[in-house]
Amino acid sequence: MKILLSGGAGFIGSHTYVELTKAGHEAVIVDNLYNASEKVLERLQVITGKPVPFIKADVADRSAMRAVFSEHKFDAVIHFAGYKAVGESVQKPIEYYRNNLDTTLTLCECMREAGVKCIVFSSSATVYGPLETSPLEESMAPEDCTNPYAWTKSMNERILLDAVHAMPDWSCALLRYFNPIGAHESGLIGEDPVGIPNNLMPFITQVASGKREKLSVFGNDYNTPDGTGVRDYIHVVDLARGHVAACEYLLTHPGAEIINLGTGIGYSVLDIVNTFMRVNNIDVPYVIAPRRSGDMDSYYADPSKAKALLGWQAEKTLDDMCRDSWRWQSNNPNGYRD
Ligand code: UD1
Repeated sequence: MKILLSGGAGFIGSHTYVELTKAGHEAVIVDNLYNASEKVLERLQVITGKPVPFIKADVADRSAMRAVFSEHKFDAVIHFAGYKAVGESVQKPIEYYRNNLDTTLTLCECMREAGVKCIVFSSSATVYGPLETSPLEESMAPEDCTNPYAWTKSMNERILLDAVHAMPDWSCALLRYFNPIGAHESGLIGEDPVGIPNNLMPFITQVASGKREKLSVFGNDYNTPDGTGVRDYIHVVDLARGHVAACEYLLTHPGAEIINLGTGIGYSVLDIVNTFMRVNNIDVPYVIAPRRSGDMDSYYADPSKAKALLGWQAEKTLDDMCRDSWRWQSNNPNGYRD
């Protein structure tokens, strides 16, 4: 298959590029490099041994995207492009709604013009909202989202479900990611947050490397076995393989499917910290801090639909995730800015 990766130079997009290429597909990355580095492209070339088809363009720019669709005959689109910081979305809701909805609408218009009928969308478990109890199943009705970022994911899901309803020969997978961590085992590509990381694993790796003094564990009085928050962490390479399986499925299955990509296993913050220290034989100083507002005690996936429909399940362990996150960080202390 020939597949357009919108936002394909980012963390999940770059790993998906590798897995698509390994599976024999041809992927073309379109990215404006707003939140990604051009260096990713060199690294992808080293990993795959082939030049990386790349077009620098804003996915919301209709004339640029029309040119992309007329130059290439795609079988499918995987749509990663979008702003993704929860806290920033609260400060800049207009920018988040404008960008995250425009990119999807522009892609859909270009797909319709070009006769491309398959789309995989990068959604998030954040759409389940705070009221559902784990394991989270796709059939659970979307709850009230807690921030503009989450709403953009939920609204994009709605746009795509309605588009498929109106165009029944389209096929669409709305992939709800749980917490992606880890990195490609080469240590050449990984997550490269700008500034102070918001998410747990990048913060841990920066503490381990001495870049930050200590981790704050946000709350130890949650209703969980050790009192710290429980999440479903998934290795980004497993997540990337889920996209390959989704694309292959969509080619022969019109209609829309919502699919969780998680492991189904919940780990606490302290599980992550302790496993990271053990497998990498390195210290991660931490203190217990107040709860972070908006956090839930526990959420994890019911991943059975992905297995039944796509034949996909996560294979990597928490040890793999911690080892690979650290290899990426220790080889690239300043991410792609080295
Ligand atoms: C967050 C977002 C979610 C987004 C996801 C992307 C919030 C409320 N949710 O999920 O919408 O889809 O990232 O990966 O921001 N923790 C600490 N110390 C830290 C950082 C995190 O103890 O310095 C804890 C958190 O309290 C939580 C767990 O680690 O229990 C995971 O946090 P994080 O990596 O930020 O992910 P989520 O909050 O699950």
